[in-house]
Amino acid sequence: MKIALIGYGKMGKTIEHLAKTKGHDIVLIIDKDNLQDFTKENLQKVDVAIEFSQPESAFENIKKCLEAKVPVITGTTGWLDKLSEARQICEQTGSAMIQATNFSIGVNIFFALNHYLAKMMNAQPQYEVKIEEIHHTQKLDKPSGTAISLAKDILNEIERKTNWVNHENSNPEELAIISKRIDPAPGTHEVTYQSEIDTIKINHEAHSREGFALGAIAAAAWIVGKRGFFTMQDVLGF
Ligand SMILES: NC(=O)c1ccc[n+]([C@@H]2O[C@H](COP(=O)([O-])OP(=O)(O)OC[C@H]3O[C@@H](n4cnc5c(N)ncnc54)[C@H](O)[C@@H]3O)[C@@H](O)[C@H]2O)c1
Repeated sequence: MKIALIGYGKMGKTIEHLAKTKGHDIVLIIDKDNLQDFTKENLQKVDVAIEFSQPESAFENIKKCLEAKVPVITGTTGWLDKLSEARQICEQTGSAMIQATNFSIGVNIFFALNHYLAKMMNAQPQYEVKIEEIHHTQKLDKPSGTAISLAKDILNEIERKTNWVNHENSNPEELAIISKRIDPAPGTHEVTYQSEIDTIKINHEAHSREGFALGAIAAAAWIVGKRGFFTMQDVLGF
């Protein structure tokens, strides 16, 4: 596979290393210092673009790839207010994209567990639910995109919760997401249900960035030749 890396920070570099060990070619690397190379002509040389940049640049980067009809895998968080616009461009241009707040296979299994647990907990109002996430201090967005995805699934299932807040909740309808920034921390997410009788916790702890990178490479291999807007659930088949 011929890959363009859009964003060459911690994730871009990890993806480069792992993609090369799997025999893929990195034919274009774009970061903020060589944006002049981010052209339609250069994009025509690749099979797929993998975008891990920053919240302010993600949407324009994705748009550029989609308009050049290059399928794009994007993991950047903190820009998702524009996701439906990106999806529209994807569908209008007949291109393809996968957006995931977390590409790790383990986290996607964790998402499915969270969803199932929330479904059961809708009928158990004695449990108060809370999310906690811990990341390194350089992380730009808060709460994490992964925590927001967990919260959305809980809010969709548990009728007594109406919205999330990024602090301890002040009324029972709010779902608390507590964010902690500590070094070093590749990423921990924990969902806790607490009653007077007992506590149930599910927890995912990333040990390195490799899980995100391998998931993004697997998604890139899956999307080549497809059209449309997909999620990691489509890639993993659950
Ligand atoms: N979805 C996932 O699985 C997952 C996993 C880890 C991180 N992330 C997210 O991915 C993003 C990148 O993470 P990171 O740890 O690599 O961050 P990073 O800060 O190490 O790298 C970001 C890179 O983007 C570059 N950049 C800035 N403006 C740009 C532009 N206009 N075009 C291209 N590149 C530009 C920066 O110079 C930097 O090199 C963050 O939003 C992070 O939250 C997602």
